[in-house]
Amino acid sequence: MHGDVIGLGLESSCDETAAAIVINGSRVLANHIFSQIDLHKEYFGVVPEIASRSHLEVINGLIESALNDAGISFNDLSYVAATSRPGLTGSLLIGLQSAKAIAFAMNIPLIAVNHLEAHLYAPFLEGHGLAFPYIGLLISGGNTALYRVTGIGDMEIIGKTVDDAVGEAFDKVAKHLGLEYPGGPVIEKLAGKAVRREVLFPKILTDPGDMRFSYSGLKTAVVNYIRENPGAEKAEIVYSFQERALEVLVRRVFAAARRYGINDIVVAGGVAANSRLRQLLDEGKKGREKIIIASPKLCTDNAAMVAGLAFHYFSRGEYNDLTVDVNARAW
Ligand code: KG4
Repeated sequence: MHGDVIGLGLESSCDETAAAIVINGSRVLANHIFSQIDLHKEYFGVVPEIASRSHLEVINGLIESALNDAGISFNDLSYVAATSRPGLTGSLLIGLQSAKAIAFAMNIPLIAVNHLEAHLYAPFLEGHGLAFPYIGLLISGGNTALYRVTGIGDMEIIGKTVDDAVGEAFDKVAKHLGLEYPGGPVIEKLAGKAVRREVLFPKILTDPGDMRFSYSGLKTAVVNYIRENPGAEKAEIVYSFQERALEVLVRRVFAAARRYGINDIVVAGGVAANSRLRQLLDEGKKGREKIIIASPKLCTDNAAMVAGLAFHYFSRGEYNDLTVDVNARAW
């Protein structure tokens, strides 16, 4: 490992606490995640107070097991990175303050990372060569946005949701149908059992020049349909919902790729774990486009993406000092 740059990454922006060790921004040595899903399940969403308390309880243990797993100690670290934005303020503070303490105690650089940029970095930890520019589609429980990414730290927003995030729509529809939280994986599985596969809901924002997303109309259409058709098969409802929810994502990335003449498309965030989406993206390719997408484990919140992205800031000498603060917003 002599000459290698070893980074510790921490992630605590929402309901996952995570610690990871990454070498040279590309090889994951350890990737530990504690999901709080069981703590928030009964509320059908993340409760900020519960989230920050839980982060505090588990973060030291996760750091220790990541170091052990990687077979290294604090002394081997070249830098420490943490998500500082966007996210829940109280949750972000736990990861960032822990990173500050390590940076101070070990006298190593601290790097505060934008969670959204980190998500888009995830596939580059799995053998995809990092190359710019690319079109980035970020789809999770809190975000639905399209970017033109031209370099580390250089991303321009092309379009975003005007209301709910796509993952949020999956979660809300699941709640209305009495399904488990989080709704995404449950809906994906149930949709696979649909037989009739009828079109029950309209397409979202069909103007081809439009780069926005919107999910509250689709959610309302689903809720109304459930009310008016109490005997309808849940599998058929979620199938039709999922088709519409994903179809607009696919339409937008290919439209953006054409508009900017960019062929590389990176898809990231929790919803990118959806296999029907992967299939639709593959089918939508006209030939030249390359879909770059992380494996499901690196799609949801994790700290490997934080440590990996931070390597590039470390290499450029772009560090943060101990006064850096968290920010609920991305910029
Ligand atoms: O990135 P992520 O872990 O963090 C948050 O934004 O909190 O994304 C979680 C979101 C949830 O809304 C969840 O329902 C959705 O991603 N999700 C999925 C799938 N797996 C997770 N949505 C659709 N299909 C999936 N397979």
